[in-house]
Amino acid sequence: MKSQKIMSSEKQQKEKARLHPRNKNRERYDLSALTTSIPELKSYIRPNKFGGESIDFSKPHAVKLLNKALLNYYYGIKYWEFPDKNLCPPIPGRADYIHYIADLLGENNSGTIPVGDKITCLDVGIGASCIYPIIGVTEYGWRFIGSDIDPKSIASAQNIVNSNSSIKGKIECRLQKNPKNVFHGIINNEDKIELTICNPPFHSSIEDAQKVTRRKIKNLSGKKVKTPEVHLAGISNELICDGGEYKFIQNMIRESKKFSKNCYWFTSLVSKQSNLKGIYKLLEKIEAKQIKTIPMGTGNKSSRIVAWTFLSVKEQKEWIETRWKTLSSGHS
Ligand SMILES: C[S@@+](CC[C@H](N)C(=O)[O-])C[C@H]1O[C@@H](n2cnc3c(N)ncnc32)[C@H](O)[C@@H]1O
Repeated sequence: MKSQKIMSSEKQQKEKARLHPRNKNRERYDLSALTTSIPELKSYIRPNKFGGESIDFSKPHAVKLLNKALLNYYYGIKYWEFPDKNLCPPIPGRADYIHYIADLLGENNSGTIPVGDKITCLDVGIGASCIYPIIGVTEYGWRFIGSDIDPKSIASAQNIVNSNSSIKGKIECRLQKNPKNVFHGIINNEDKIELTICNPPFHSSIEDAQKVTRRKIKNLSGKKVKTPEVHLAGISNELICDGGEYKFIQNMIRESKKFSKNCYWFTSLVSKQSNLKGIYKLLEKIEAKQIKTIPMGTGNKSSRIVAWTFLSVKEQKEWIETRWKTLSSGHS
């Protein structure tokens, strides 16, 4: 029993060690502090087979409560409510994306990460949970625009923003009226945006989504599940789009060219490694000036961010001179 216990915590630490060095979720979870933040979480804590305690992750509600507690404890978010049928994002991986793109801006700024509301970030597909803007505002003080094709998600994200004084007024939610568009209808001519980020819908069909969900639940609970506990019908727009992740990113890349002078860096998560080849090919074809791939790993899952810009080195320098030079710097 003793060696199992050691193995278990070693495994957990190994997984957490893959997170970005500034990710607050690298620490071992302090269940007592988290249950003080959100007492309801207590009813989902079970003794584990290694003699310790852990959260029953096979229950979607437990995952949501843990996330609520993490946002409360680490990020000072007091109100984080959205319908249960919406995607409930794991916080550590979402935080990693924000920290890695902060590093990307830092590289352009002689190693100092620009902080404060002169930095604008557009989150394509903000979702009902508003997760990326919450982390970006609380960690770096950036300003956010969040888009989504689902009016209910836009309303939910805006409600979260308005209900937390720490992020109120710093995140603007814009409805994308045409689901075929990514930037059109969202970025205005006069907008200047340092970063666009996106966690694209990655499944191409309901069947594909169900297969993956079943596998995930089986891995967590050790049981075979015929019908996933998550209500897939209600979340089809969030996780599914025609052509899946690849087509979504392709559209995004094509459209990005038209906004090449409005944005410094365009970025997207790419969860399937096999999609990279086609993505690079398209980026070269449309003459992106710089392309970067940033590896990320959370838990036992590897992912990556692909970033591209159409600004020449000279244009990048001018952008920084005119927009960032008066910024305060809090991180380096
Ligand atoms: C995988 S979810 C990500 C949600 C949230 N950002 C997160 O990481 O948890 C993808 C989101 O993209 C939205 N979406 C789909 N097509 C879109 C489009 N053309 N423009 C903006 N958002 C879109 C979906 O409604 C959904 O909220």
